[in-house]
Amino acid sequence: CSGDGGTDSGGGYPDQNITIVVPFSAGGPTDTVTRMIADPMAKALGGRIVVQNVEGAGGTVAAGQVAAAQPDGYTVLMHHIGMSTAPALYKDLGYQPLADFATIGLVTEVPMTVVARPDLPPATFTDLTAYLKANAGTVTLANAGIGAASHLCGLLFQSAVGVKLQEVPYQGTGPALTDLVGGQVDVMCDQTTNTTGQITAGKVKAYAVTTPERVKSLPDLPTTTEAGMPQLQVSVWHGLYVPAGTPDEVVRKLSGALTTALADPAVIDQMAKLGTAPVPAADATPEAHRTHLEEQIATWAKVISDAGVKAS
Ligand code: MLT
Repeated sequence: CSGDGGTDSGGGYPDQNITIVVPFSAGGPTDTVTRMIADPMAKALGGRIVVQNVEGAGGTVAAGQVAAAQPDGYTVLMHHIGMSTAPALYKDLGYQPLADFATIGLVTEVPMTVVARPDLPPATFTDLTAYLKANAGTVTLANAGIGAASHLCGLLFQSAVGVKLQEVPYQGTGPALTDLVGGQVDVMCDQTTNTTGQITAGKVKAYAVTTPERVKSLPDLPTTTEAGMPQLQVSVWHGLYVPAGTPDEVVRKLSGALTTALADPAVIDQMAKLGTAPVPAADATPEAHRTHLEEQIATWAKVISDAGVKAS
């Protein structure tokens, strides 16, 4: 039982294409994780999954669209930590994460990196903080809009450094990273699922990873704790959702397919190369996901309010 008020039908599911909606640009971190699991999930379900990018407003446009979709299991949302931060960041969100969705299961938790255009002068994280303080008026900080993980990490980073940078919003960090590589923006906080390739290729400067432990795929990159900023800790959890009222049997089938996909050696390998891993099987369940979402909404409401950030 999903615990979300669904009914017990859906025995023939799936008998048409399933769409997984990604709330950010194609080629970015959310899209990358979604495409890793889409095929193995489709195989486990005996159906076909199409990935659709619905950009806008830090992921909230897509979430609102899926909340209003038919609760039949054919429209699924992949979302991340933004599902839990948006209620504190938006006055009129237009949907309620807990009331309007049934949770399918958690997917992965991704470290973030503090990165910069390749020719930004500072060499180390400490140099970077000094540089930002000296140049706050002109330094640009890319993000994927209010509610995005890059936005949240950027807020925490600016608060930890004690500066206000010029924020440049994109529809996703896929295009933002392209601009960072090209030198059109200066700094960004972004997930290893997006930045690993460009860091390894030397196309962006990387200063720190925002998790307590170093990331195996980027072994030379210090943690923010090692770099002297232990308060900057963010990792980006992802989960799958369907509209509330989706039949319990459909929720169970999707969750089972997610568990199967996360145990696929190819998925584990692809994730490891990008600095992440599937969640343990016990967390790829509707119940664990819902509990996590509840906790995260409460946690981030406090952090965001303590940071003095007002909902817009
Ligand atoms: C994306 O897929 O573009 C990202 O997850 C954006 C973000 O949340 O920073």
